[in-house]
Amino acid sequence: MNIGIIGTGAVGSPLARNMAAAGHNVKVTNTRPFAELTEKAQSLGTSPATLQDVVKDVDIVFISVPFGAIAKFPQGLFRSLPDQVIVVDTGNYYPFRDEKIDALEQGQVESVWVSQQLGRPITKAFNNLLSETIAVGGKPEGTPDRIAASITGDDQHAKQVIAGLANELGFDVVDGGTLADSWRQQPGTPAYCTELTAVELTAALDDAVPGKAPQIRDQIIGEHMQRESLPSRQEMVIVNRARQLGKSSDL
Ligand SMILES: NC(=O)c1ccc[n+]([C@@H]2O[C@H](COP(=O)([O-])OP(=O)(O)OC[C@H]3O[C@@H](n4cnc5c(N)ncnc54)[C@H](OP(=O)(O)O)[C@@H]3O)[C@@H](O)[C@H]2O)c1
Repeated sequence: MNIGIIGTGAVGSPLARNMAAAGHNVKVTNTRPFAELTEKAQSLGTSPATLQDVVKDVDIVFISVPFGAIAKFPQGLFRSLPDQVIVVDTGNYYPFRDEKIDALEQGQVESVWVSQQLGRPITKAFNNLLSETIAVGGKPEGTPDRIAASITGDDQHAKQVIAGLANELGFDVVDGGTLADSWRQQPGTPAYCTELTAVELTAALDDAVPGKAPQIRDQIIGEHMQRESLPSRQEMVIVNRARQLGKSSDL
């Protein structure tokens, strides 16, 4: 497939590298001068593109940028795309990092807000896996402890296509419901970056409690910020799982 990725950071890079390695034709963009972007794109096995071009002539566009950048995309960038182009939001709202967004502070579902900003339907995927999990956590289909990703959206066909890609990248998939249901996989929920199998993830999505996640999200970030060094993938998973049980992780 032809795939465009906006953002070559912690999430955009492993998505780009692994999808290109799986045989897809991937182009990427970021905010750097074109020479620097070209170097980055080549290191990922992909091609460089401007923001205007990265969404053109593709089957799928991934958005892997901080939330603050989404509201500042050029007007019409997404509105003019053909309906069949699948737009995937990998994002999570972190008020300490992103500009504070009133609608999200008041509880609007994050990807519903993104969909409104872009002026088109979107699919949410890969937001509930850590970047390192995406990079190196994939396993062959049928592996008993294979990690699962939750995919939400209102377009069943789009979800099936993204599920196929997730499988190629080494992950099982759970259908997390409609875009409005995607609050169940936002930061601070049991499904968020806890590296669960499909059976466990299905239960975790069910266990999410409306309104509870932001407080847990902020507690976890506070815990990470008190550390002298960045936590490893394994440490983050331990903290995320422990917080769901209302425990300190004792790391
Ligand atoms: N990190 C994780 O483990 C993780 C896991 C799942 C989901 N997420 C979510 O995925 C999203 C991206 O996270 P990340 O960790 O990949 O962020 P990141 O490492 O900070 O990378 C962000 C990327 O977006 C690019 N960018 C920013 N504004 C842009 C614009 N206007 N046009 C084009 N490119 C732009 C940046 O370009 P430059 O390179 O030029 O700065 C950078 O490549 C966030 O919402 C995050 O919460 C993160």
